[in-house]
Amino acid sequence: MLVTLKEILKIAEEKKIALGAFNTPSMPYARAIIAAAEALNQPVIIMHAQVHEEMGLCTMEEVAPMMLWYAEHAKVPVCVHLDHGTDLDYVKRGLELGFTGVMYDGSALSYEENAKNSAIAVEMARKTGASVEAEVGSMGSREGGVQEDESIYTDPDTAAKFVAETGIDALACAFGTVHGFYAKEPKLDFPRLSKIDSLVEVPLVMHGGSGVSHADYREVIARGVRKINYYTYMSRAGADALNGQTFKQFHDAYVAAEKAMQRDVEAAIRVFANLG
Ligand code: 13P
Repeated sequence: MLVTLKEILKIAEEKKIALGAFNTPSMPYARAIIAAAEALNQPVIIMHAQVHEEMGLCTMEEVAPMMLWYAEHAKVPVCVHLDHGTDLDYVKRGLELGFTGVMYDGSALSYEENAKNSAIAVEMARKTGASVEAEVGSMGSREGGVQEDESIYTDPDTAAKFVAETGIDALACAFGTVHGFYAKEPKLDFPRLSKIDSLVEVPLVMHGGSGVSHADYREVIARGVRKINYYTYMSRAGADALNGQTFKQFHDAYVAAEKAMQRDVEAAIRVFANLG
């Protein structure tokens, strides 16, 4: 069942859990994620990342119809979301294709430009009924697991101003996680997260979910995180399943990877949904 980001995060808020948000650069990813969510009967967010188009994995036009098909046919609520749309034209294309959630990422811009563009993204999304996530502060580089200095972490007062000025539906905040593999163990700024949560009404989003300990997942969920973006470890699970094996047919390799990714996603959803 296809739902918006706002609708799906409402379910997370009611249950005081976080939903997994997983990237789907090709069909085996989408199949693995939907199968995991259905096996656990949990809502899920599937995402196309603009960076995956830039890496040559898929264009948004190719992947969106496939994502929407899986969402519409799923037995659980599914949001089809654009991850890190860094320009407004890209976000507009996503909305036209039917994404029910979009992230406009202006975190590399000045506060004023980021707020102005995020408000434009909200205005565009309201026309299609989609919801908007945006980021203030910065996760730093999009890949590589390098922890940046705390000066780019989200400032709680700025976050409150940003949400009020833009009308966004969910806020991505920087408090110590990074994308990709961690170069060293992440050290999350929990008091900062709680302060943001106390000043901001909308659900909070944690990016860079791979490599965070179970204890830290529980802690950030208790402090208001309702969406956890997770890709690297799921994708690594797919690659690990192929290690040391030879395949005569490519479809056998991708089925093995898909099954391994499904197990990894199920394990992640179990923690995010507090299923024990
Ligand atoms: P990881 O790849 O580190 O799990 O992060 C995914 C993410 O935050 C996508 O926006």
